[in-house]
Amino acid sequence: MKKKITKAIFPVAGLGTRFLPATKSVPKEIMTLVDRPLIQYAIDEARAAGIKEFIFITSRGKGALEDYFDEAPQLEQALRKKGKTELLEELQSTNMESGAIAYIRQHKALGLGHAVWCARRLIANEPFAVILPDDVIAAEKSCLQQMVEAYEESPGCMVAAMEVPADQASSYGVLDVKEDMGSLVSVNGMVEKPEAGKAPSNLAVIGRYILTPDVLRSLNKKQVGAGGEIQLTDAIANEIAEGRPVHGFRFSGQRFDCGTKAGFLQASVSFGLNRPDLRDDLLGYIQNIVSTQKAAE
Ligand code: G1P
Repeated sequence: MKKKITKAIFPVAGLGTRFLPATKSVPKEIMTLVDRPLIQYAIDEARAAGIKEFIFITSRGKGALEDYFDEAPQLEQALRKKGKTELLEELQSTNMESGAIAYIRQHKALGLGHAVWCARRLIANEPFAVILPDDVIAAEKSCLQQMVEAYEESPGCMVAAMEVPADQASSYGVLDVKEDMGSLVSVNGMVEKPEAGKAPSNLAVIGRYILTPDVLRSLNKKQVGAGGEIQLTDAIANEIAEGRPVHGFRFSGQRFDCGTKAGFLQASVSFGLNRPDLRDDLLGYIQNIVSTQKAAE
């Protein structure tokens, strides 16, 4: 029997410069889609996939994240007093079990690979997941859960994958596909942020990974890659070079790139439209501006 995936790493050390000035005092991961912080979507997805231990790789200025996962007894009491049961339940659903979360500081911004490596002692010798909270994936079955199920059938490392327009491939890790089996593809190699026109395919890595501890060993080498950073993609590519299997997994669901303003706004609209209490108002508003815009053209 394969070892179950119970640990997930959430790299949240980034400065979030694309969202300045907001991120001057608010960690990007606390910014909200409708009424839930980005990080809550990542946690919900991980929980649905059976994750029990949540390892955050943080940096200076991310204190609000730790506070967010603390219980809020005064707030709970106030809601209880006012009989706001639904809100209370909503709030309690975000409570984390004591000891379920660990925070590790990444002292230097040396790249995603380095961030993951910072968790090596907590991961020890078992397979683990990595979730990049910037990639928000709306799906009936959580993306990580889909991957965990696929992982049970196939050995090695697995990365979420999605086709992207050719001119955007240089923003991603890109897969060199060996065999395309539909939702699963086996991989010959991986390139982080390939130069324009040099991507091996248009199948890009999206921020969900299931990795073996071998990847951590490879990250020990601290090899510097694209952008002068220690890249997770390179450590996974090293697995392939060592003859160990790596798969890409085309998930079902819609991915929003909440690391960009445009993606964040699109996610806000989409999640808003999915809320029964907001849908009619929001849709009416959108239809209105679209028709005003059309009339003006
Ligand atoms: C990271 C990874 C990249 C992946 C991307 C997905 O890049 O390094 O391989 O394709 O996330 O969002 P970043 O967006 O942090 O530059």
